[in-house]
Amino acid sequence: MSKIKVTTVSGNLGSRSRTRSLVDAVVDGIAAHIVIDRTDIVVGELGADLGALTDPAAIPPRVAGAIAAITGADLLVVGTPVYKGSYTGLFKHLIDFVPPDALIGLPVVLTATGGTARHALVVEHQLRPLFGFFQAHTVPTGVFALDADFTDYRLTNPEIAARAAKAADEAVQIATLNRLAPRAAAAAAE
Ligand SMILES: Cc1cc2nc3c(=O)[nH]c(=O)nc-3n(C[C@H](O)[C@H](O)[C@H](O)COP(=O)(O)O)c2cc1C
Repeated sequence: MSKIKVTTVSGNLGSRSRTRSLVDAVVDGIAAHIVIDRTDIVVGELGADLGALTDPAAIPPRVAGAIAAITGADLLVVGTPVYKGSYTGLFKHLIDFVPPDALIGLPVVLTATGGTARHALVVEHQLRPLFGFFQAHTVPTGVFALDADFTDYRLTNPEIAARAAKAADEAVQIATLNRLAPRAAAAAAE
């Protein structure tokens, strides 16, 4: 069986990131079950290229590469820090340039980190509707972690780690089913 292409999209802006650690925990859970070919996108690293982008017909190569990794994935793991009660602006700006029919049926794990538990439902109220727009197959278990769940930017709360593993299990099940019955968008392109 060929490798499953896993693309991660992390919405953090800083180079040290709890969000990336949470995304890593999910990917580790996926890799415990299946052989993966992993590509990581960090929106903060696309910085000026992404921030200055306004014309969909003139997407800079690095951003175009990120979008190709998203649309070409078998499985997506997304994460974002909560900024003002939602995903970061640059995260949304990248996703805004993904073609609307490119993620149909794609399994997507949704994760977020925040400073307060008051925003724990950002996964359900912000991320899930965004990927609902794309008709993606968001996995049922979303994962939210507080800053207090990390030590020196590493996820150290075992309860959150267990939830990340559960989300990973669900994602593997959906990605495996997609292998047996290719998702609509991929099938239509063949
Ligand atoms: C500009 C800014 C806005 C933020 N807004 C929120 C917020 O509305 N709710 C929240 O829970 N945390 C908020 N935070 C805290 C971050 O979500 C939290 O520290 C997160 O874990 C940072 O992730 P990172 O380490 O990947 O950058 C904010 C942080 C920044 C810098």
